[in-house]
Amino acid sequence: MMQMTAMRAEARHPKPPYVVVHVAVSLDGHTTGFSVDLARFYSLLPTWQEDITLTGADTILAQERELAAAPRPGPADGAPLLVVVDSRRRVREWEALRDCGYWSGVLPLRAASRQPVGDPPVPELVVGSDRVDLRQALTQLASRTGARVVRVDSGGQLTRALLDLRLVDEVSLLVHSCLTDSGSHYWFGADPPPALPMALQDVETFDPGLVWLRYRVGPLARDSIPAVE
Ligand SMILES: NC(=O)c1ccc[n+]([C@@H]2O[C@H](COP(=O)([O-])OP(=O)(O)OC[C@H]3O[C@@H](n4cnc5c(N)ncnc54)[C@H](OP(=O)(O)O)[C@@H]3O)[C@@H](O)[C@H]2O)c1
Repeated sequence: MMQMTAMRAEARHPKPPYVVVHVAVSLDGHTTGFSVDLARFYSLLPTWQEDITLTGADTILAQERELAAAPRPGPADGAPLLVVVDSRRRVREWEALRDCGYWSGVLPLRAASRQPVGDPPVPELVVGSDRVDLRQALTQLASRTGARVVRVDSGGQLTRALLDLRLVDEVSLLVHSCLTDSGSHYWFGADPPPALPMALQDVETFDPGLVWLRYRVGPLARDSIPAVE
């Protein structure tokens, strides 16, 4: 009986997903302006077994041209769902994203004030009035898809918004041994970040000169960090 009551309560108030920001950075904390070790970066993803890859419109726009020309094997069964925060409807290559073989599907997040012209190319989730409401989006994604782990793929802006809302549980930095001159493209956004305690969970080094740092975000974090496999 107790268990049934707990299950009903969870269905009404789904547990927010575990949110990990995994990002490749230079020594000075930039996310652009250097050559990322993509093989190492992606080799670390099984650590979290993400249900959802959450990214921002600007991250997609930065690679839209290559995407349009990429092979399209179709959606990958069992792969994460790609969710893109795109309040302003700037992304165009939805079919290419859906069919490029990395994700099981795509879901744009929209703001209600931005109505589509004609039928949207893929189903979308409207959450928020002028801009996507990120807290509501995570809650709705958890209840609609059962997602437990969300990995954020962001150059900084989206991460920053999630940090401001205290929605990040873990920060994973793959530190590259270089300095860059890429303006204010820091992993936590352009402005000084909110003051948050971070607890170091793990450190690993890889050739050539990469350091992988995993931090649990402050006392507001909810779940225990998944173990490194
Ligand atoms: N080194 C790495 O690991 C890494 C990873 C990913 C990307 N990148 C690079 O980073 C660059 C893009 O990063 P970026 O930081 O410019 O963009 P981003 O991380 O893609 O974030 C931009 C998105 O965040 C949304 N957003 C920002 N604040 C918000 C808020 N308060 N509420 C709701 N939505 C909010 C924006 O919404 P609107 O649509 O409403 O503006 C926009 O869709 C690219 O050059 C990419 O190649 C690097």
